Amino acid sequence: MENFRYSRSVIIVMGFLTIFFFSCDSQTKEKQENLKTVAEAELAQQDTIKITLRSNDKMQFDKDEIVVFKHQTIILELIHTGSMPKSAMGHNFVLLNNTISISDYSKKALKKKEDDYVIEDPEITLAHTKMLGGGESDEITFKAPPEGTYDFICSFPGHYANMKGKFIVK
Ligand code: CU
Repeated sequence: MENFRYSRSVIIVMGFLTIFFFSCDSQTKEKQENLKTVAEAELAQQDTIKITLRSNDKMQFDKDEIVVFKHQTIILELIHTGSMPKSAMGHNFVLLNNTISISDYSKKALKKKEDDYVIEDPEITLAHTKMLGGGESDEITFKAPPEGTYDFICSFPGHYANMKGKFIVK
C-alpha cells in the first residue's frame, strides 16, 4: 500500500512536470516567432538589404532561403570560402525567373561554358554573380523582382542538385 501510494504521487509529479515543460517550450516558440516577426518588420523598412552568401569546397551554400521585400535593392555578396580552383569547384549565384525550372535551366546552361554556365537572357536569369574559385568573392546589386518565390542555384555543371535555395520576395 505504501509503495502504491508512493508510485502514484511520483506519477502525478511527473505529469505536472511534463505539462510544465511543454508549456515552457511552447512559450519559447511563441517568443521566437514574435522575434522573427519583429526582425522581419525591421528588415521590411529598409530600402536596401545586404545579403552575404557563402559557398565552400564541399559544394554547399550556407543558406537555402533568402527573404527580401519587393521594394528593396539587394546587395548580394557571394564568397567562396574554399581553396579549390574555379575549373574544379567553381561557384556562382544565379537567380532564376519563375518561368523556368532548375533542371531546364541547368540543361541549357551546360552549353554556355564560355559564359560561365549562365544564360544571358534577362527573361530567364534575373541576376547572377561571376563564377568564383576558392578565396574569391563577388558583389552584385539588383532590384527585387515582383512578389513571389524564385529559385537560386549555382549553375556550375552538376552543382545545382546540392547548391540551390528559395529566394522569397514579400
Ligand atoms: Cu558551385
